[in-house]
Parts: sequence; structure tokens; C-alpha cells
Amino acid sequence: MPTLLKLKKINLKYQTGKEVIKVLQNINFETKTKETISIVGESGSGKTSLIMLIAGLEKVTSGKIFFQDQEITKLNEDEVSEIRRKHIGIIFQSFYLIPNYTAVENVALTLELNKFTNPNERAKELLDRFGLKHRLNNLPSQLSGGEQQRVAIARAIAMKPELILADEPTGNLDSDNSAMIADILFRYVKEEGSSLIMVTHDPKLANRAKRKIKIKDGNIA
Ligand SMILES: Nc1ncnc2c1ncn2[C@@H]1O[C@H](COP(=O)(O)OP(=O)(O)OP(=O)(O)O)[C@@H](O)[C@H]1O
Ligand SMILES: [Mg+2]
Repeated sequence: MPTLLKLKKINLKYQTGKEVIKVLQNINFETKTKETISIVGESGSGKTSLIMLIAGLEKVTSGKIFFQDQEITKLNEDEVSEIRRKHIGIIFQSFYLIPNYTAVENVALTLELNKFTNPNERAKELLDRFGLKHRLNNLPSQLSGGEQQRVAIARAIAMKPELILADEPTGNLDSDNSAMIADILFRYVKEEGSSLIMVTHDPKLANRAKRKIKIKDGNIA
């Protein structure tokens, strides 16, 4: 399988006032197309930071990141956000839906930004597939946690991204909802042939990925 993502000698430090926190040190790592990877590690080990770097939402201190053979660490913010919008779907623990947009509008917005024709139709179809046909016009505050996360996933996969990044996607959900969300994610990856990189504290969920990576002391253990 071709390489989708490559991290080369990645270092990340945060500077807060005088204090410098070394978070990631000399991370080297490759993801192939269709791979599913889970990232585990103690709280504060740098899992979210790693996801943010891959998403281009945080800047490396040093090192290079390649996505589909293009070095994204040397692109400007607009160029990175275009790649992210088209090729990467991101799912967070706290869903980050737009509060005054309905379920369908939250999903359709991404499609509109990408100049997709019939964004509403496609959004409805996706939500229907995730069992939300009866919740299309509800606001996030009117949805359960599991329902909100399904909307967030529909939004993340709307453009059929080649890579899905998920940071504790089931962290705020009970075990039934967690299982459903995991099923949806893994089914999507299988059907669309994309890759999944998922941070999780849940050992059962972590074990569903083909490959498991542990971050310890800023490095891949
Ligand atoms: N913007 C920031 N500025 C300064 N320090 C930060 C910043 N973001 C994260 N950190 C620090 O970097 C370290 C790694 O944080 P990160 O959020 O990546 O951990 P994590 O592995 O995702 O933890 P958790 O499992 O609790 O979510 C922590 O020590 C954190 O305090
Ligand atoms: Mg985290």
C-alpha cells in the first residue's frame, strides 16, 4: 500500500513564559493507505498534540510532515487548511458542532465550503445512514452525546477524506454509544479505503485498530 502520511524527526516544544515544555521528541512514523492506527499513552504524553500536528492545526518545532508526498510543514496556513478541508476529517472528544446550526446544516456547511453540489441532499443522506433521519433539523443542544458525535462524524467524512483523525471520539460517551461510534468509524474506513488514526483511552477500542502506537516520554514506545 502507498504511504499516506510520513513524520520525520518531529519535535514539539511549548513555551509558556520562561518555561519550555518538551512534548514530542524525534518522532518518526509512517501511515499507509487503508491502515487503522490507535494511539495510546498517559494523560499529558502528547497524543492530542500529535493529532494537532498531523492536522496542521499546530506547528512543529522542528521536523517534517508529508501528506500524500507533499510536505505540509512548509506550506502556509491557507494551503494547509485547504488540504485539511479536502483530505482530512477530524473528530474530537467534545464534538465542536456549531451550536446555532441544525444537524443537517452542520454537515452541509463543510460540503458548501468545498463547493459540493446539493450539499443538503448529501448531508441528509449521511445523517440518515447514521440513524439520524428523525433528528435532521435539531440543534446540537437538542441531541444526545451519541447523536452529536454521529453528526460530527458525518461532517468529518462528508468529503470522503483519505485520512480520519479522531481524538478520543468516544471519550464522552457510554459504552453502548462508544461501540456504535466505533462501528461507524471502522465501517467507513473499510468501505472507503481510507486511513484512521485514533487516540483512545479505551483498550477495547484501541485493539480494533490494526496497529497500536504508544507515546511515552515524548517518543513512540
Ligand atoms: N498550547 C499549549 N501550551 C503549553 N503547553 C501545552 C499546550 N498544549 C498542550 N500542552 C502540554 O503538552 C503536554 C501534552 O499535551 P497533550 O494535550 O498533547 O496530551 P494528551 O496525551 O493528549 O493528554 P490527555 O490524555 O489528557 O488528553 C501536556 O503537558 C500539556 O500540558
Ligand atoms: Mg488529549
